[in-house]
Amino acid sequence: MPVGENFKEAQHQGAIDALRSIGSYRLMSEPKPKLSISSHRWILGYLMKEKAIFLPSLAALFFTAMLSLAFPWFLKELVGNPTDALKTGVDPQVVLAKSNRVVLELVAVLALQAFVAFFRVQGFIRSGESALNRLRRDLFAHLVRLPMPFYQEQRSGALSNRISADLGVVRETLLTTVPQAVRQTVILVGGLIFIFVASWKLSLIMLGSVPFVVLAIAFFGRKVRGFSKAAQDSLAEAGTVIEETVQGIADVKSFTNEPFEATRYDRALESFLGVTMRGAKSRAAFLAFIIFALFGTIAFVTWYGAQMLANGQINGTNFVSFILFSIFVGASLGSFPEIISQFQQTSGATERLRELLDTAPERTDGDAQAKLGGALAFANLSFCYPSRPDVQVLSDLSFEVAPGQRVALVGPSGAGKSTVFSLILGFNDPESGDVLFDGRSASTLALQALRSQIAIVPQEVLLFGGSIRENIEYGKPGATFEEIEAAARQANAHEFITELPEGFETLVGPRGTKLSGGQRQRIAIARAILADPRILLLDEATSALDSESERLVNEALERLMQGRTSLVIAHRLSTVRHADSILVFSHGKIVESGTHEQLIANHGTYRFLVETQLV
Ligand SMILES: Nc1ncnc2c1ncn2[C@@H]1O[C@H](COP(=O)(O)OP(=O)(O)OP(=O)(O)O)[C@@H](O)[C@H]1O
Ligand SMILES: [Mg+2]
Repeated sequence: MPVGENFKEAQHQGAIDALRSIGSYRLMSEPKPKLSISSHRWILGYLMKEKAIFLPSLAALFFTAMLSLAFPWFLKELVGNPTDALKTGVDPQVVLAKSNRVVLELVAVLALQAFVAFFRVQGFIRSGESALNRLRRDLFAHLVRLPMPFYQEQRSGALSNRISADLGVVRETLLTTVPQAVRQTVILVGGLIFIFVASWKLSLIMLGSVPFVVLAIAFFGRKVRGFSKAAQDSLAEAGTVIEETVQGIADVKSFTNEPFEATRYDRALESFLGVTMRGAKSRAAFLAFIIFALFGTIAFVTWYGAQMLANGQINGTNFVSFILFSIFVGASLGSFPEIISQFQQTSGATERLRELLDTAPERTDGDAQAKLGGALAFANLSFCYPSRPDVQVLSDLSFEVAPGQRVALVGPSGAGKSTVFSLILGFNDPESGDVLFDGRSASTLALQALRSQIAIVPQEVLLFGGSIRENIEYGKPGATFEEIEAAARQANAHEFITELPEGFETLVGPRGTKLSGGQRQRIAIARAILADPRILLLDEATSALDSESERLVNEALERLMQGRTSLVIAHRLSTVRHADSILVFSHGKIVESGTHEQLIANHGTYRFLVETQLV
């Protein structure tokens, strides 16, 4: 590999790193610090699409929650009126018979509860997971329709980690918190009825403490929520480190940067722990307060009840009933802070997901039936990436390509060559000026129509994790095996494919890593041949192939370019020599153009590039 190639490679990597480092969470705005009703209604909407299962499960939950109040009820029956027993003395035989009966009834109720719960739990999981799948599907379908600038601004790892963290929160809510909230509400309301019946006076005293608890929930809840969002963000950040490391594992190893990545991960985890612990403090303080306030109140009320009992203001049965049901009411009240904090987290998560779903997708307007003739032109086009508005990547660029012509783009790294391809594919829109197909502005054509008639063979071919056949078929979904085979033959790939033990069914490994660079490229070429595009965009590989695979690839490319308009970002002199026209790029402008011979005679940039082996 010439020195120039190495240098370019390093620069390329530098550009990738720079891009990664500027990636930020621009998408995610801060959620409003409150429990948003609308976001819960939105989630409920997803649940209600499964109402055939969700509603019966909900009814079953109501039923079992009410049955759980039977427990204190039977206990009360069992204990009876202790003061009566003290006063009159009760026949042990009668007590025994009664307790046998009560326990049998209790067991029957428990069995019924268990039976219903068995189906209810399954119902909740089925409706919750189905609702989630629907949400996941909607998200994914929307995500792939988002415009390219959206992705150019994101670190892909951050985005997917963020989404899976948010979906995790929603899942927890649907599967655990919603049933929990329903059950506790039923127990709370039912228990309150029982204690009011037992003694309204004692009940009011007990409920006097509730406003304090509510205030505390509001106060601590807000704090905890802020921290939990920050914690989720920093956990997502840590996930990004893993993802980037695994994706670039070859780079990590070759630069022996394992310790560096480990430290980077460690730092992310440390920061996660830091944020979590700051949140944990508020949470712990809150819990301590609740325990003290709750059980303090119960102790006080019991003491007060004992006074009433002594004064004859309440009878023994009611007193026992009050205490037993109070414990249930207290426990259920105590579970609400957790439930509310979970709902608050869900607000944050769903707001971010909704924001994602509300992000405008790519345009779908324009002529969908347009047939490309193959003529292509840039007219006074200027462009800068939205994420870096101050850097003019292309300025006032104009050139024309006639149908069937072969044009080479050359120039130093970062000159804007790949950006030209992005604009042709409609990944990005020009800031001013226009891309013209057969003289028509690209904005009048449907993206779908455009892209289906343009194929790109990228610099670094990344295949999908399936089989070779599937990867070629990607160029034309639904193609017959004969077509796929023919394409492979034309791409000089047939021979190496059939030599593999599993032939076309060979799995290519994650991102195609089980194939060599030259093999991957020929698969990409076969894919492009199958797609049969009118316009072909070729980003020639910078990494040198051995001479035999280079010959095979070049031959395949020659066939592919036959009869199509081809734009080639060229790194090899052999490609450039045969081009009808060469455009020399520098800093987003065309500084020279013409044939190889003309440009060599020019003694300009092109000649310099050729002499320093940069082409
Ligand atoms: N998504 C992006 N966001 C912001 N800036 C970008 C983005 N992609 C590329 N750039 C910048 O635009 C300029 C042109 O990049 P481009 O990829 O078009 O160069 P190139 O000529 O293809 O280089 P190479 O030969 O290394 O592939 C560079 O300065 C680069 O840093
Ligand atoms: Mg490039």
